[in-house]
Amino acid sequence: MSSNMKSILVTGGAGFIGANFVPYFAQKYPEYKVINLDKLTYAGDLNNLKELIDAENYEFVHGDICNRELVEYLFTTYDIRGVIHFAAESHVDNSISGPEVFIKTNVNGTFTLLDVAKKYWMEAPFQYKEGYEACRFHHISTDEVYGTLGETGLFREDTPYAPNSPYSSSKASSDLLVRAYFHTYGMDVTTSNCSNNYGPKQHNEKLIPTIIRKALAGEDIPIYGDGKNVRDWLYVLDHCTGIDLVYHKGRAGETYNIGGRNERDNLFIVKHICEILDVKKPRNDGSSYKELITFVKDRAGHDRRYAIDATKIETELGWKADENLETGIVKTIDWYLYK
Ligand SMILES: NC(=O)c1ccc[n+]([C@@H]2O[C@H](COP(=O)([O-])OP(=O)(O)OC[C@H]3O[C@@H](n4cnc5c(N)ncnc54)[C@H](O)[C@@H]3O)[C@@H](O)[C@H]2O)c1
Repeated sequence: MSSNMKSILVTGGAGFIGANFVPYFAQKYPEYKVINLDKLTYAGDLNNLKELIDAENYEFVHGDICNRELVEYLFTTYDIRGVIHFAAESHVDNSISGPEVFIKTNVNGTFTLLDVAKKYWMEAPFQYKEGYEACRFHHISTDEVYGTLGETGLFREDTPYAPNSPYSSSKASSDLLVRAYFHTYGMDVTTSNCSNNYGPKQHNEKLIPTIIRKALAGEDIPIYGDGKNVRDWLYVLDHCTGIDLVYHKGRAGETYNIGGRNERDNLFIVKHICEILDVKKPRNDGSSYKELITFVKDRAGHDRRYAIDATKIETELGWKADENLETGIVKTIDWYLYK
């Protein structure tokens, strides 16, 4: 490793968003060495990082963010100068059936990373070691920490936390730990809270991949409840550019909401995908994929609406989403059809 290369620890880089972020980041910043620590749970897939096979500034480490010894070893071995923390259990349905691992990874794991970083970078509260002053910890979180919205209103950075699922409450807990390391120890931290992502490399279990996969297989496409749950959809690469900006230019101790101003309900999403597939890959019998839509029993405690006010990141950091739902969905479908 050349001596002026800076090592950045990325966690969860084999998951959906991480596997979009790491190639983007490693290619954009050849002066960084990106160390990707991932446990490869069911949600991690190294096939999603194939484009990095020849990259000289990328290394994969198979391991758990809760393993303090390992995390300490990585900090000293690579002289880690920044953390971008994606690793989490991320599926709400799984958090309802088995919440414990969400607490372990999302809460204890985040704590372990924060605490090791503090020890490695800092001498005392509010005092960085010489040469380590620029080290930053960026935490990736979700808009689900704010709870649910009615017909109107938007989540802002000052919206009170009101998480409703084991998933969102474990993420909210991790956000508060990050906050505490800023206020108590003066550690340089930033957090971004993002709306629902979609795009290439997303795990099959999530809504949009499920719709595409089931449609192409000619199976019933399950939609929860009445299909009227609203999410604010963001193309994953727009999330990646937002994280990059916050990590490099955001103010320490601040949180930034990232959202695409693309609110749609699930019924719109499923119908829209079916219409695109009807054109791109017509069914043999000439019928529409929409005939496969099937309503199923709603998820317990299903939040009705999430929507983000992204004014802060837009005005302060100049971030803007490049894709809207219509353009991003086509790119996503093409990835599933032709990957
Ligand atoms: N997907 C979204 O729509 C969305 C929206 C906002 C925020 N987020 C947040 O972004 C982050 C990434 O989400 P995602 O959708 O890519 O998740 P994902 O479930 O697709 O990937 C998570 C990754 O973390 C790894 N991992 C899990 N437990 C680990 C552990 N203990 N140690 C090391 N690695 C571990 C998994 O192997 C996987 O590669 C999460 O923190 C999530 O809360 C996601």
